[in-house]
Amino acid sequence: MSKLPRKIIIDTDPGQDDAIAILLALASPEDIKVLGITAVAGNVPLELTAKNARIVCELAGRPDIPVFAGCDAPLCRPLVTAEHVHGKTGLDGPALPEPQMPLQDLHGVDFIIDTLRREPSGSVTLCPLGPLTNIATAFDRAPDIVERVQEIVLMGGAYFEVGNITPAAEFNIYVDPEAADTVMKSGIRITMMPLDVTHKALVTRPRNEAFRALNTPVGRAVAEMTDFFERFDREKYGSDGAPLHDPTVIAHLIAPRLFSGRFVNVEIETGSELTRGMTVTDWWRVTEREPNAMFIGDLDAERFFALLTERLARLPLPPAG
Ligand code: RIB
Ligand code: CA
Repeated sequence: MSKLPRKIIIDTDPGQDDAIAILLALASPEDIKVLGITAVAGNVPLELTAKNARIVCELAGRPDIPVFAGCDAPLCRPLVTAEHVHGKTGLDGPALPEPQMPLQDLHGVDFIIDTLRREPSGSVTLCPLGPLTNIATAFDRAPDIVERVQEIVLMGGAYFEVGNITPAAEFNIYVDPEAADTVMKSGIRITMMPLDVTHKALVTRPRNEAFRALNTPVGRAVAEMTDFFERFDREKYGSDGAPLHDPTVIAHLIAPRLFSGRFVNVEIETGSELTRGMTVTDWWRVTEREPNAMFIGDLDAERFFALLTERLARLPLPPAG
């Protein structure tokens, strides 16, 4: 019997890599049913992340996907953004048209709560690709939904790879460490895609050329997005291309065997300003702390990019029906 597609909510702060993750999800209807997209402040302010999410849905030919605006600032800290990586718009690189599809009136947090209460318990996966503010706010406001979440597959954190926004912390966790702490302590099954694995998913020249060679609006846009946002990592790390952080979340839903990791304890530093947002990972199990997350450390990069490119080639999908 063929398996049913996984029902997911994508919580996101587009961001070029978020955009590619959304495209991969929308290109994979046999594996994934996107119930909705909730925007959160992160890479750029909420007004832009909510706009960019709609731009990407229209690029994919899916203006029917409901997009909601969520929280515009972290739980208890001022917002830190990353225009230095993603550009002023958050989607610098390709020239994409202004969105025509509307933003939903419902707040993104209410959409998360309502959806988890409506759908059968254990049937919806949350895919946070940005700061965890919306997710934590939903759990704080409606504790009854926590046990109804099937799984959380998130991009965030770092251990051996250390930080990208400070020496100790990865951006998504750094922006809202209190929210991340709530999520990590929720008891929900969590799979984390930290920098340890995403820094191995680099858009090298041949991989970028493969996007461009699709010779489609999506292929060209993805090539231009990654051309733009690779600058930061090339300069900082000497990377051989842009790291596709967020698409690893969606690829893990489609092909988990491309990835490997370890079920360990991960706790979030919220007290120290020096190490705020650090994901303290007990990789060598030197404490008695209970494991609470599958911490992914490696992937088959060639097969990841083959999957991504093959799926992007499908877009825009013909109208359903
Ligand atoms: O640190 C990388 C993460 O921060 C990615 O999700 C990127 O989009 C930004 O949100
Ligand atoms: Ca992101």
